[in-house]
Amino acid sequence: MSYLEIKSLSAYYGKAQALSDISLSVEKGEIIAIVGANGAGKSTLLDSIMGLVRQTGQIDFDGSVISGKSTSNIVKSGIGYAPERFNLFPYMSVKDNLLVGAFTAKADTAANLSQVYSLFPRLAERETQETATQSGGERQMVSLGRALMTSPNLLLVDEPTIGLAPKVCQEIAVSLRRMRDDFGLTVVITEQNANFAMTLAERIYVLEAGKMQVEGTVEDLRKDNRLIEAYFGT
Ligand SMILES: Nc1ncnc2c1ncn2[C@@H]1O[C@H](COP(=O)(O)OP(=O)(O)OP(=O)(O)O)[C@@H](O)[C@H]1O
Ligand SMILES: [Mg+2]
Repeated sequence: MSYLEIKSLSAYYGKAQALSDISLSVEKGEIIAIVGANGAGKSTLLDSIMGLVRQTGQIDFDGSVISGKSTSNIVKSGIGYAPERFNLFPYMSVKDNLLVGAFTAKADTAANLSQVYSLFPRLAERETQETATQSGGERQMVSLGRALMTSPNLLLVDEPTIGLAPKVCQEIAVSLRRMRDDFGLTVVITEQNANFAMTLAERIYVLEAGKMQVEGTVEDLRKDNRLIEAYFGT
């Protein structure tokens, strides 16, 4: 059994179906990317894993069924989530926003905080700054850091590079890779930026209008010219 396994997941907003019959599996220690355009269902897929959307199908994580559990129990089972809309507290400091993430944490808050500061030295330098006055990249770092404060083994990140300059995207890529290489996390990101996805991830899933279209290793996808043209531009 895979570390994270999604079987025949469908998701609904009222009567509207946003995802149909999605299957996906992630092995421990992988970095995978779910690539898709606006409205493809990327956020819905991550929200579904967190138990935030009405759904059918089954999701297993680390040997247990998590679909049907409450979001707080899903977090306790070891999944951290950095959502698309960060929802940081604008008039609270960087440090206090990070501590909000530690509210349900089982592990040592001080150790988690120093892990976050080692990944993002810029946050350590600015721990008293209000997030309202931070740049977009810095806020993304606070959002990622807050997710790490719950001591996750699997981290879900919705569009880590949205609206960020190429240099900042690279910084985020380096930190995501370090989370896996140095801290042993498994990482699932979503992206519209296929190039970023292909430089960071080992495997890619392509989501289109709520359906999973293609799945493969980055190596395999690079060899398929028609696929590259269809989904990734030239
Ligand atoms: N709260 C909601 N209520 C009703 N429909 C929704 C809701 N959230 C999303 N949808 C619909 O579900 C579909 C998938 O949306 P979703 O936000 O998951 O796409 P996405 O791939 O994350 O897009 P984006 O790149 O713009 O963030 C869209 O058709 C969207 O309009
Ligand atoms: Mg989205």
